[in-house]
Amino acid sequence: MTYKHITRYSPINPTLFQRNRQRFMKAMKPKSVAIFHSNDLMPRNGDQYFPFRQNSDLFYLSGLDQPEAVLVLFPNCVKDGFEEIAFIKKTNEYIARWEGHKYTKEEASRISGIKKIYWLEDMENVLNELILLATRIYVNSNENDRYVSDVVNRDLRFTHELMKQYPTHKYHRSQPIMKKLAMIKSEYEVQLLQKACNITKHAFNRVLEFTKPGVMEYEVEAEIIHEFIRSGANGHGYSPIIASGANSNVLHYNENNMECQDGDVLLMDFGAEYANYTADLSRTIPVNGRFTKRQRAVYDAVLRVMKEAIKMLVPGNLIEEYHKEVGKMMESELIALKLITKHDVEKQDPAYPAYKKYFMHGTSHHLGLDVHDLADRYAPIQAGMVFTCEPGIYIPEEGFGIRLEDDILVTDHEPYNLMADIPIEAEEIEEIMSAGVLS
Ligand code: GLY
Ligand code: MN
Ligand code: MN
Repeated sequence: MTYKHITRYSPINPTLFQRNRQRFMKAMKPKSVAIFHSNDLMPRNGDQYFPFRQNSDLFYLSGLDQPEAVLVLFPNCVKDGFEEIAFIKKTNEYIARWEGHKYTKEEASRISGIKKIYWLEDMENVLNELILLATRIYVNSNENDRYVSDVVNRDLRFTHELMKQYPTHKYHRSQPIMKKLAMIKSEYEVQLLQKACNITKHAFNRVLEFTKPGVMEYEVEAEIIHEFIRSGANGHGYSPIIASGANSNVLHYNENNMECQDGDVLLMDFGAEYANYTADLSRTIPVNGRFTKRQRAVYDAVLRVMKEAIKMLVPGNLIEEYHKEVGKMMESELIALKLITKHDVEKQDPAYPAYKKYFMHGTSHHLGLDVHDLADRYAPIQAGMVFTCEPGIYIPEEGFGIRLEDDILVTDHEPYNLMADIPIEAEEIEEIMSAGVLS
């Protein structure tokens, strides 16, 4: 049997991963070895597992998209040819019959650009020899600063084992290096993100044609996933939010089980994941195709803030300062909408400004292999960074909220909007919805 397609996405040029490894190794201290593991297959229930999603760091450095893969980097290793090696699980007839094709050594080498590929069963011996040649070990972990979980991953389990076996080596964290690298996207990565955005655009266009009073939120979700899968996306990059009416005020609503009512808005936040890179889009549309006067006023306020905020995503600005500036813009809009007063602003607690009552989340986060991508949030904005821009106004007392979100590449010139061709002007949305067809 021959298998043409190892992954759903088109093959990625291994140069991307080779360059990433080179940059990582350049940042390592002398006589050190770095080890990265795949994600676990996460148990679902009974004998089932959730669909596999590769560990973003391992993928970034190797392109290997299979469970039980391990990457080892050893810059200037005295043992010739051992600067970069990988271990993969040995496949057999039984696995091929029940689970399907798994990488051969040649395939893993072609995907990653790594010459030496071993079976996982050889890891203990091969790695032991390398570790004894090193004095330092870089271990990986999840250092996303918003991550909280009781679940122990493969990297952490392995780190505990290493520390028991090699207690006198010096241990280092890989994540500070990874953060510096991952937050600046290469041209190739931007192309993959653009592809994820384009798929997301097609899904949104489909939703514009589909939505009308009486449809269920999950029917809208079904339109989106249909478009994603047929376009070669893995699926959603994060749980989609399809929130009509009052649900649009729940920031992380993802039950998606209510009927969309005439006169309500539909706030959607979804993004296709293509080759493990994710888009992150928000749009809010009128269920019946026409905003009410009030909905439109709030919509336009959010859009004005967004347009001004995008202009500030330029090299040299600090994200914290940027958030404060956007807060001030939002403050003026909320006063004009009569949601807060100048008096509220004068007496506000600086730690919790008045605008936060209606806009309580950040405006931007890094985007890449993960929706809230690995990054140093205190580093100044630099060309090559990709940020979302996602202002919103949420008014529970009026039964609706509006959020708009585009994905923006920072360049040495103007910010480049990866979602520039996704309808966003209120008239444009209304026109498309009333015509029922997209050109
Ligand atoms: N969809 C998650 C976010 O916008 O941050
Ligand atoms: Mn979003
Ligand atoms: Mn976002």
